[in-house]
Amino acid sequence: MNLDQLKSDWLGRIAAAADEAALEELRVAALGKKGEISLKMRDLGGMSPEERQVAGPALNALKDEVTTAIAAKKAALGDAALDERLKAEWLDVTLPARHRRVGTIHPVSQVTEEVTAIFADMGFAVAEGPQIETDWYNFDALNIPGHHPARAEMDTFYTHRAPGDDRPPHVLRTHTSPVQIRHMEAHGAPVRVIAPGRVYRADYDQTHTPMFHQVEGLAIDRDISMANLKWVLEEFFSAYFGTKVRTRFRASHFPFTEPSAEVDIQCSWEGGTVKVGEGSDWLEVLGSGMVHPKVLQAANVDPAEWQGFAFGMGIDRIAMLKYGIPDLRAFFDSDLRWLRHYGFAALQVPAVHSGV
Ligand code: PHE
Repeated sequence: MNLDQLKSDWLGRIAAAADEAALEELRVAALGKKGEISLKMRDLGGMSPEERQVAGPALNALKDEVTTAIAAKKAALGDAALDERLKAEWLDVTLPARHRRVGTIHPVSQVTEEVTAIFADMGFAVAEGPQIETDWYNFDALNIPGHHPARAEMDTFYTHRAPGDDRPPHVLRTHTSPVQIRHMEAHGAPVRVIAPGRVYRADYDQTHTPMFHQVEGLAIDRDISMANLKWVLEEFFSAYFGTKVRTRFRASHFPFTEPSAEVDIQCSWEGGTVKVGEGSDWLEVLGSGMVHPKVLQAANVDPAEWQGFAFGMGIDRIAMLKYGIPDLRAFFDSDLRWLRHYGFAALQVPAVHSGV
């Protein structure tokens, strides 16, 4: 029996094994129950003690060497497989990142922020109320009784009541004025708040959408007058448009203010585009007046002691004016091209109050 020959055969085959499966086949063929080396070990039983003394240790040494060679080859194959994988999965972390589009701030959100900041500077806090209102807060408390034409004029959206339930239906608020009542009820006087938010009217054309945004203003104290209203508004418009803006008050009528005024701002239409703060034209932007005593009473504020002004302004309207947006309906179309064009970067706040 030429063990040297056997050994170099097996070590050669082990070294040449291509993968772990081939290696396992070799292990079974050499050391398995019926493997060549195992069978040779079995032959030892038939030898004379003298023969066995020589052949035994030699076979054992061979078995050990083959076992060790298989283990070493297995480790080497594992390393090679890992190298292969690392090479295949390599990626270049120095490549520039894939471009991701960032969303923009909607002009309504942007302008709401600007308006809030300017009024905050004048000491106004922000108040809020629900968009689904009772008819009492939206109408009655504001001195608009059931038979009043203003109810019909406002193109109100009514919610449904269950059949047989004849309580008056809730409404989608038609203006932010109900927040006046809610705020005075909860906090009493004095008051200095604005209330920005969504309002709803059944109306649709280039300058009207069924949902739009208003900001209400309310200032109540012992001696507040129309003069304070005019100063606050001129101060606001000048800060908002970044240029001195004159206002014009026109006598008007609202059930919840007395006297009432519609307010125009100075503008020019030269060159086909509107420019605020110059020229000799006027543009209506809000309704206002001195809060009606009945409104104070409805909110449990004593009109013998307190008085003040209120105004309601269209946020979308002043956004269109400042940023040159021609069609109100596009505000709410969610057209990405429009949003990218008119939207604002998160940190870009082009307003006087931000110093940009
Ligand atoms: N609520 C009125 C409207 O929506 C605006 C307004 C508010 C007028 C406050 C006067 C005082 O048209």
